[in-house]
Amino acid sequence: VKRSETNLRIPGPTSLPPTVREAGARQMINHRGPEFAAMLARITSRVQPFFRTSNEILILTCSGTGGLEAAVVNTLSPGDPVLVVSIGSFGDRLAKIASAYGANVTKLDIEWGRAAEPDDLRRALAGNPGYKAVLLTHNETSTAVENPIAGLAPVIRELAPDALIIVDGVSGLGAVPFDMDGWGLDVVITGSQKSWMVAPGLAMIALSPRAWEASRTATMPRFYFDLAQAREFAAKGQTPWTPALAVLFQLDAAMALIEAEGYDSIIARHRAVAAATRAGLVALGFRLYADQRYASTTVTAAWIPDGLDWKSFNKALLERNLVLAGGQGKVAGQVLRVGHLGDVSLQDIRDAMDVLEEALVQFGREVTPGAGSAAADRASRETLAREPGTGVAKPETATATAVRG
Ligand SMILES: Cc1ncc(COP(=O)(O)O)c(C=O)c1O
Repeated sequence: VKRSETNLRIPGPTSLPPTVREAGARQMINHRGPEFAAMLARITSRVQPFFRTSNEILILTCSGTGGLEAAVVNTLSPGDPVLVVSIGSFGDRLAKIASAYGANVTKLDIEWGRAAEPDDLRRALAGNPGYKAVLLTHNETSTAVENPIAGLAPVIRELAPDALIIVDGVSGLGAVPFDMDGWGLDVVITGSQKSWMVAPGLAMIALSPRAWEASRTATMPRFYFDLAQAREFAAKGQTPWTPALAVLFQLDAAMALIEAEGYDSIIARHRAVAAATRAGLVALGFRLYADQRYASTTVTAAWIPDGLDWKSFNKALLERNLVLAGGQGKVAGQVLRVGHLGDVSLQDIRDAMDVLEEALVQFGREVTPGAGSAAADRASRETLAREPGTGVAKPETATATAVRG
């Protein structure tokens, strides 16, 4: 069956709810006027609970990588010893950025598919208390693994007390519980095109007082990403440079949906669709790629079954309007990834499972009819039973339901 609407199941950019799409078509406004200042304040106050921080949140016009670069160049100086914990290709990117600006990078490479565990970090930090920063990925999109930041941060504080903890939260924030202040993190970054249901083009970043202090003496070159400037302008309800207004309009609309759906419902919905995706894939005979103790809540990776060619299989999926992501880096052609973040419902996952089933059958694989979507259903129901009062409709539908009571 060819579905009429594309089921965009990649881990960002994610699909946009109708009101978010419409918001992007609005007429421009003066970005140095009161309407803009009010919008900026509205957005950041609604984003704050997802960082769980009292630090101010700055919005930068750039993709997530720009936010990562801003984190590095504002807090570090060339020659600074830093530890980069990499569990996949986005961890590798953090190391590349820090190296590009002259940091003295030591890399802790964890086998792909695994999370960094407190003992891994303990070994890397033992006898090396002098790191200026430890950089880690929260949700590693390439391997579909979520690092246990809550367990890692205390190890850093204990063994490298002066190190800033810089966390790439690009693909996890907004979908899973996060606690910047409680975990003692110094810099956290996220990107608009992930859980926030907004087009690419904005990064959001928060710095702790320690990180702001470090920025005073940090000497890495910076201009566009000078966060001291961003902060000064934010105090006036502005950004230093012309912001991507259309994307900010979208973010404003998305945050209204997010607020209406409610924090707990959003977290529960993501847990439910993640459980549904994993169960569905397993029921269809896929072997999951990641260490399931640390399975990501926003993306799932599975091995492509032996003898199945990813390119031709993917073509069969695309013909049915299902868009998945392939493997990145060294697992290209070996794994597929299903994104389940942002504007995603259980129905989207069920549809994806039905398409995967059809394609598997087309390629001569034996599958119990309906097994994938049935397992997805069951897993979602079981997950939600543990989180009463929540649902798995799309945000706009959920909002409408909430409004109707
Ligand atoms: C964990 C993580 N970090 C960083 C990035 C980079 O973000 P962008 O592609 O927006 O520059 C991504 C995007 O996929 C990501 O998933």
